Amino acid sequence: MKIDLSTTIGPNQFSNPLINAAGVWDETALELDELVASTAGGVTTKSATLEPRSGNQRPRYADVALGSINSMGLPNQGLKYYLDYVTTHDASKPIDLSIANPNPMDNLTALQMIQDSSFQGLTELNLSCPNVIGKPQIGYDLAALKQILQQAFKLFTKPLGIKLPPYFDLQQFDAVADILNQFPLTFINTINSVGNGLLVDPASERTLIEPKGGFGGIGGAYVKPVALANVHAFRSRLKPTIKIIGTGGVRNGTDVFELILCGADAVSVGTTLMQAGPQLFTKLQDELIQLMVQKHYPSLATFRNQLKAAH
Ligand code: DHB
Repeated sequence: MKIDLSTTIGPNQFSNPLINAAGVWDETALELDELVASTAGGVTTKSATLEPRSGNQRPRYADVALGSINSMGLPNQGLKYYLDYVTTHDASKPIDLSIANPNPMDNLTALQMIQDSSFQGLTELNLSCPNVIGKPQIGYDLAALKQILQQAFKLFTKPLGIKLPPYFDLQQFDAVADILNQFPLTFINTINSVGNGLLVDPASERTLIEPKGGFGGIGGAYVKPVALANVHAFRSRLKPTIKIIGTGGVRNGTDVFELILCGADAVSVGTTLMQAGPQLFTKLQDELIQLMVQKHYPSLATFRNQLKAAH
């Protein structure tokens, strides 16, 4: 059986739905080259600020059996570095340029720089970084969310998506979707890490990471049900022109299948990519293909958003 894994987001055609989650294996040109050379369908760049940043104090990332905690604090090489990379790399697969600025006004400057460049790929405006000391997540402030989108679309005409934090209340899904449907968004990426969790080491009685008293974004298996719920809740509320990149808790091909079943157009992988490295993408694709063959699904479209209720 011939299996077609291709998917599209805006003008970009992906040979398969797998992408690195922003912030994983994507800070330097060397790492980005490894992702471009891997079997990933697309590549995301580390969320860039206008100026380079070294990020928070170490230790700022830790793995445990069920996932990870991080409070990286946006270490990155600055937007110009990533803009240079994406406008000169070999274009063999789509690139998603991620930006995140602790000062919301800087996001508009960043968008203007991208607008004025020759970059033709997707831009992902990250409204959900939980780790900048003293700054809230814009995704949880609905007035600020609406305002930044109004300002962004006044100056930006290229394909734009946003990275959202997880929501936990059905009224929140309604209210956020109402706002998003007012804009010509190309996609949303849901979910970012579950913000401000806490992992502790009972032996040393210490937090696993140092910044912010140990609080950090939780990823990995812990967050998969939240990711499935956010993808599914938004798919049933957003207009069909807004595509969804589903992110959260992918460890195997079945997890990729489940996110697509819940409505994802593409799937990004964070914690497991951090642990396994870019060869992971081949394993995930092999497992997804095997499952699709068993279920007689020749393409992603044949099962996307087809989740049925229990009875
Ligand atoms: C960081 C973490 C995030 O979850 C994010 O969306 C952006 C940046 C960080 O701490 O670097």
